[in-house]
Amino acid sequence: MGYGMRRKEAIDRLEESGHLEREEWVRLLADYDETDRLYAAEKARAIADRHFGNRIYIRGLIEFTSYCRNDCYYCGLRRSNKKAARFRLTEETILACCETGYKLGFRTFVLQGGEDAGFSDERLCALIGGIRERWPDCALTLSVGEREADAYRRFYEAGADRYLLRHETADTVHYGKLHPPAMSLENRIACLDTLKAIGYQTGCGFMVGSPGQTPETLAADMMLIERLHPHMVGIGPFLPHKDTPFGGECAGSDTLTLFLLSLVRIMEKNVLLPATTALGTIRPDGREAGILAGANVVMPNLSPAGVREKYALYDHKKCTGAEAAEGIAGLRERMKRLGYEIVSGRGDWKECQ
Ligand code: 5AD
Repeated sequence: MGYGMRRKEAIDRLEESGHLEREEWVRLLADYDETDRLYAAEKARAIADRHFGNRIYIRGLIEFTSYCRNDCYYCGLRRSNKKAARFRLTEETILACCETGYKLGFRTFVLQGGEDAGFSDERLCALIGGIRERWPDCALTLSVGEREADAYRRFYEAGADRYLLRHETADTVHYGKLHPPAMSLENRIACLDTLKAIGYQTGCGFMVGSPGQTPETLAADMMLIERLHPHMVGIGPFLPHKDTPFGGECAGSDTLTLFLLSLVRIMEKNVLLPATTALGTIRPDGREAGILAGANVVMPNLSPAGVREKYALYDHKKCTGAEAAEGIAGLRERMKRLGYEIVSGRGDWKECQ
């Protein structure tokens, strides 16, 4: 069998069994071509169509604090970045964001922030409760990093439904190249297991093209996803931020990002898979390309316009037009051109029928 046939055969088998061996992952990711990528995209799209039809779910992303105790080498919000603009939204402002989002048709709010001690467990619980009370028909997603299991439990009881915590890389050595010694992959994965056990719809994910990433580390990412079987997976290209240790590194590849989106869709058929902001930043048609590769979620920015620039994970992060909640009409139009429809509704994860 030729190499090309063997890669197609691996993609077919991934669809049938939801599994590839480590060596097969490495081979596929080390040596794929445009034909393989388009083959996977076509399959991924067919699977997404089977599970979601032409429906695209939207989430309103509220970036509510840019303070972070961590010092991840890739992130513009890292503690050591003295040039980072820091802000914290008040409860009042966050609720106003939800109000605006609700009127625009959002039924999922994502509270995302750095690991900020200024938002204690108690304070977050009160905020979650407040949102839950005012918008009982909405889903609430948290993305506030690593906390104690007890805090995760209290947030859940207060009314949070989902939790996003990208694992960033599932390879221990690679994890150590992206993070200072205070952080560990072990703890990251323990958090993900805890979140899932509590009952959250849980999301992991990683950057594509982060410094030191290889086909082997990507194989580990795919295998972790198979093992964790998450409800959501966030994948976007690494983009350098000038005031970080990785400021001089190259951005990740958009096409490899798209290939990985497709492979995740093929493996985890009904997973909620966003076409991420980073993908929309690296190329103007990123959101569209993501959808055509098998993604089924978009997460426009619902933060107050004045703070969006300050939430700078990487340089040139997009936060206007179709990336912005108020640009939802434009996004709807762009999706329509591809034959997809943005729907209002919580868009929860559903068991395979
Ligand atoms: N490039 C791309 N993505 C980044 N993130 C953080 N920094 C960068 C960067 N420089 C991603 C991480 C994190 C999410 C909130 O943003 O994966 O989990």
